Formats: sequence, C-alpha cells, structure tokens
Amino acid sequence: KVESTLSITVVGASGDLAKKKIFPALFALFYEDCLPEDFNVFGYARSNMNDNELRDMISRTLTCRIDKRENCEDKMDQFLKRCFYHSGQYNSEEHFAELDKKLKEKEAGKLSNRLYYLSIPPNIFVDAVRCASLRASSANGWTRVIVEKPFGRDSESSGELTRCLKQYLSEDQIFRIDHYLGKELVENLSVLRFSNLVFEPLWSRDYIRNVQFIFSEDFGTEGRGGYFDNYGIIRDIMQNHLLQILALFAMETPVSLDAEDIRNEKVKVLRSMRPLQLEDVIIGQYKGHSKGGRSFPAYVDDPTVPKDSLTPTFAAAALFIHNARWDGVPFLMKAGKALHTKRAEIRVQFRHVPGNLYKRNFGTDLDKATNELVLRVQPDEAIYLKINNKVPGLGMRLDRSDLNLLYRARYPREIPDAYERLLLDAIEGERRLFIRSDELDAAWGLFTPLLKEVEEKKIVPELYPYGSRGPVGAHYLAAKYNVRWGDLS
Ligand code: BG6
Repeated sequence: KVESTLSITVVGASGDLAKKKIFPALFALFYEDCLPEDFNVFGYARSNMNDNELRDMISRTLTCRIDKRENCEDKMDQFLKRCFYHSGQYNSEEHFAELDKKLKEKEAGKLSNRLYYLSIPPNIFVDAVRCASLRASSANGWTRVIVEKPFGRDSESSGELTRCLKQYLSEDQIFRIDHYLGKELVENLSVLRFSNLVFEPLWSRDYIRNVQFIFSEDFGTEGRGGYFDNYGIIRDIMQNHLLQILALFAMETPVSLDAEDIRNEKVKVLRSMRPLQLEDVIIGQYKGHSKGGRSFPAYVDDPTVPKDSLTPTFAAAALFIHNARWDGVPFLMKAGKALHTKRAEIRVQFRHVPGNLYKRNFGTDLDKATNELVLRVQPDEAIYLKINNKVPGLGMRLDRSDLNLLYRARYPREIPDAYERLLLDAIEGERRLFIRSDELDAAWGLFTPLLKEVEEKKIVPELYPYGSRGPVGAHYLAAKYNVRWGDLS
C-alpha cells in the first residue's frame, strides 16, 4: 500500500479568517482524529514570519471549542509541529514555486494530496490561482481549492471570476464555501424534512403561509468597513447565506443525497424565482446612538467608511418561488448589523386552521393562533414548534406554547464550528455543501438588477439606531404581504 500524505495550505495565513476560523477548525479536526495520520499545514502570506511565529499566532488566537478540553495543550504541541510558514507575494510565481518545493520535501515519495484554502481578498484572487499553478500542481494525488466569498459583486464580475478560475482549475477542484451551509441546524434542515413524516406533507403553499430567514448581529462593521462598504449587507449575507438556506428549504426531494442531486434541486429553486425589484426590498443603515451612558457609533463613523456612504447595513426583502409547490408564498429575508441581538433563524408560519372550533379563544387576532416552526441556527441552537394548548384547569383557556428541542439540553456536547465540517468535507471530496457555478450564477441573477438600481439611483437607506430592531420599513414590507416578522411578535 502506498503511503499518502495531505498538505493543507492556507493562503492568506495572517488574515483574520485564518486566525479566527481556519486554524482553529484544523486544530479541532486534528484533536478529534479527523485528519489523516500524515498531514502538514502550510501558511502562506505576505507578512514576514517564520514557522515559530506562525505557531505562536495559531496558539495565541485559538478560540475553538476544544480549548478547555483535557490534554488540549499536548495536542496543540503535536499540531503545531506540523505547521510551517512561507512568506511570499500573491502575484509571484517564484514565491509559490518556493512553497511548492517545501511541500515536496515533506511529501517525499508518498501519494500526496493537496488542499489549498484561498483566504485572500478578491482583487488578488486570480493572480494567486494563476501563480500557484494549481491545476498542474505537482501533487500526485488530488488537488482541491477552497475559495471564500465574495465571488464577485454582481453577475458580470462573478462570471468573469468563474471564467478566470476555470482557466487554472477544473470545476471539480473548486470548493466554493458558504459557511452557513456547514452550520448544524442548516444541515439538519433536510433531515427534518425528509426523515420525518410529519413535516414534508405540510411543506407547501397548502399549509405554509410564509417563511422567514432572519440574520442579525449586535455589532457593527468594527474595522471591517473597508471591505463591507464595497459590498453591503445584500451581497454580504442575503445573496449567499440566506439564499442558500432558502434553496435548501424549498427544494424538491433530491434523487439521492449525492452532491449533484442536491445541487440540481437547489439550482431549480433559484431558477424558479424572478429577480428582485426595488419594491420588494427596503434598505437601512445604522446611525449613532447612546444607551445607558454608552455611545455607539454610526456606520459612517467607521474610519474606513466614506462619510457619505449609502451602503446598506440592513435589508429586508420578499422573494417568491414560481412553482407548483410555492406559488404565492412570500419568502422573506431580513439581515442587519448593529441590531439589538445576534441571531440567525428560519421561521415557518403555517396557515390558519380552517373553521377553527376554538376561534373565539383567540379574540380577533387569528394570526396568534397559527403554528410556527422555528429553527434557531444560532446562538443556542434549537428547533421549536409553537402549538396551541389548553391551559390546565377548569376553564377553557388556550395558550400558545412551544414543543422545544433545545440542543444544549438534548445534546450537551459542543457543536462543531461550520468550518470544521466544511474543511473535513473538502478533504473527503464531499461537495454537497459547496456552491456549484450554476448555483452561483442563478444567485447573482436574482440580485444583480436590484443592486444596480439601488446603486445607480443612489437609494438612501433608512437610518436606524445602533442596537435597535432595525428600520420600520421592514414592517411595512412584510405587511404588504400580510406577514408579521416572527422574531418581533
Ligand atoms: C460572513 C460575513 O460571511 O458571515 C460577515 O462576511 C458576518 O459580515 C459573518 O459577520 C457571520 O458569520 P457567523 O458564522 O458569525 O454568523
């Protein structure tokens, strides 16, 4: 049997994502014995560092779920011995060739597989792929490349990026990551639907009144304004994370759990939607605010953001899927920074019970009597179903209460970070949770005309105070479709 080795190269190793997510996830995988016996991790970036400085950086910034476990330090020492650094420019073939030499030294005589993680800004992306000449990588096993968003800013630039990447890589080498697909509850969505008889029969316009995808953060751009201002919340969260969840939520039953079968169904959902119009959306931007003696900055106070920026930090949108299953059902999305809470959830509001015998117990507000299924993606993962229940006692009072599956009570073990799942999948060649190029095209197709219009017409975002529940316009948008946001009611 030929011995094999895995080289994992993190390009952009000194960046934030590498420090906060990639290295901790790799260490967690190592700790859990999920990495192959023989592996090495290489960091590549412009910063001048040596192996020891990289190791120092990794152990200093380790914030993963493992760090309180027993023998964590021993494991960390073993892990760090396998970490190496090479400093180089992203547009230098020569520097990448030097890196290649280092990889080969470690791979000597073995079947070598290579995973590259490109955690670098989009403007240097193609250069790096070209200079690293990954298609012709000298690995004699597989070579795979994980790429991080933003995958362009609109249909044209994304198409251009895909074309450039395909000059240097084949589609099956490219793993486009959307880390929301690696979140436990998002993965569970299909399990819930397709392995429980009680949900799938209700999963259509016949029983579902609307579906809401909600993302909120209780902090602003905090130093990331330079990146963010060029993209805005629609590109940062909606076009990818929320839309991907929507596609998984709404797809037809795939032929199998095979990656191509699942992605075929997801792309059909995206292609059944019409591009968003200006009237389907409201946008907002946070303004400064003082609360409890503390003052919170406005978005435009971020030193890396132009003072007259119109970039939205909040958006709400209504989308429709024109197929037999979902015709007429509003799919609402809401995403914002600097709101009152940090949360991501999917809320499914069911229709009213026809001829409800208990109607009078709900007064005039029958919406209060409808069932709602909530998948709380984070924090404090949970799935709960709001049902009507009789309040125990002699009278007949009804109460809407929760059938609650609280993960921390049911599954006390920590939940792996999304990056662990996705890195492991890439190592195993599992593409189910990565975005195929046709999905990406369809996703941009839905948002590009809207983004252009917002930018060309210089639509002014509605201001909302830092730490608030977002602009009032989001309520009007929902009301237009007879919807109330579940997280606010
Ligand atoms: C990233 C966005 O993709 O997701 C960030 O670029 C956002 O703006 C982040 O903060 C949220 O991820 P998570 O996993 O912390 O919810």
